[in-house]
Amino acid sequence: MTTFLSGIQSSGYLHLGNYFGAIRQHINATSEAGDHFYFIADYHSLTTSRNPDELREFVRETAITYLALGLDPEKCSLFRQTDVPEVHEIAWLLSCVTGMGLLERAHSYKDKVANGVKPNVGLFTYPILMAADILAYDSDIVPVGKDQIQHVEMAQDMAGYFNNTFGKYAPEGYAFCRPEYRMAATKRFQKVPGVDGQKMSKSYGNSIWIFESGKKLKKAIGRVPTDSRSPEDPKDPEELVLFDFLALFLGEEELEDWKSRVRIGGEGAPGYGHLKMRVVEAMEEYFAPARKRREELLDNPDEVERILQAGAKKARARAQVVRDRAMRACGLK
Ligand code: ADP
Ligand code: TRP
Repeated sequence: MTTFLSGIQSSGYLHLGNYFGAIRQHINATSEAGDHFYFIADYHSLTTSRNPDELREFVRETAITYLALGLDPEKCSLFRQTDVPEVHEIAWLLSCVTGMGLLERAHSYKDKVANGVKPNVGLFTYPILMAADILAYDSDIVPVGKDQIQHVEMAQDMAGYFNNTFGKYAPEGYAFCRPEYRMAATKRFQKVPGVDGQKMSKSYGNSIWIFESGKKLKKAIGRVPTDSRSPEDPKDPEELVLFDFLALFLGEEELEDWKSRVRIGGEGAPGYGHLKMRVVEAMEEYFAPARKRREELLDNPDEVERILQAGAKKARARAQVVRDRAMRACGLK
């Protein structure tokens, strides 16, 4: 049986990039045969969070966001990372076979340091905890966004180091299973742009909350860069960031229609304001059912907690088996 696993940090309100790059494929994957585990990486969030009320709020919001967007808890285990303490035991085992050099090569760590973040040890060892998250459930497939691929490759490396060192002593012949990553198949979902045209990211101040609507949404889309050409001037839609947004929400036929009108130009061509209005409308419509479910879930915290606890119970049972196998292999049991 194939095991799917992925997680997402709870360090903010989730944005369109998180949805199209990660959450959407997590939800879609649950229709494939196999066991599915999705979790809220709250321990990872502590590498940057310094506000306890906010962290609690983001954990709750992340769970509700998944459920509102359609993750079916009957088809998967949804849980909090903190409810599976075994990942820390596994993280320690991995850290004892992993060289500093591997962690020093992590892009996301290097980027953060290059951007002036003063790194704590947790940020440095982040990939070890993430590898433990992945290996703890004997995961086969890890659906992630592009920028997480290197972390999954590091989990492959760490599983390899441990197995090469101790696998021969394990009755099973191995300690950890090798995971593979999987990226969103649709190219436009792999790198969703922010309102400034750069990659959308909460740390760049260019993100749009999945459930944004009304005036705030209009204001956000208003920031998408355009130029001073008039609507009549023929333009290449592929060069316009606005079309990256339209492509997220519109069906193929309508999208092609807008594109050809922009390409031809002249009297019937829409101006930038018109295109922006269509993005706002289409996004509001796209997430309307999820927005409604979110409201219901906000009124039902006990139900959300019940789902998380049930998910954690299944996840923990798996993680204990893997921890015991790895501890036996290296002589700690
Ligand atoms: P952020 O860049 O906002 O801090 P995270 O690093 O927490 O986002 O990413 C959470 C998940 O969402 C990851 O799997 C990541 O690859 C995906 N993701 C984040 N931003 C984007 C984006 N702009 N386009 C596609 N996927 C994204
Ligand atoms: N690093 C991921 C993110 O930023 C979250 C994460 C933690 C994760 N552990 C994981 C993702 C294990 C996939 C598998 O969103």
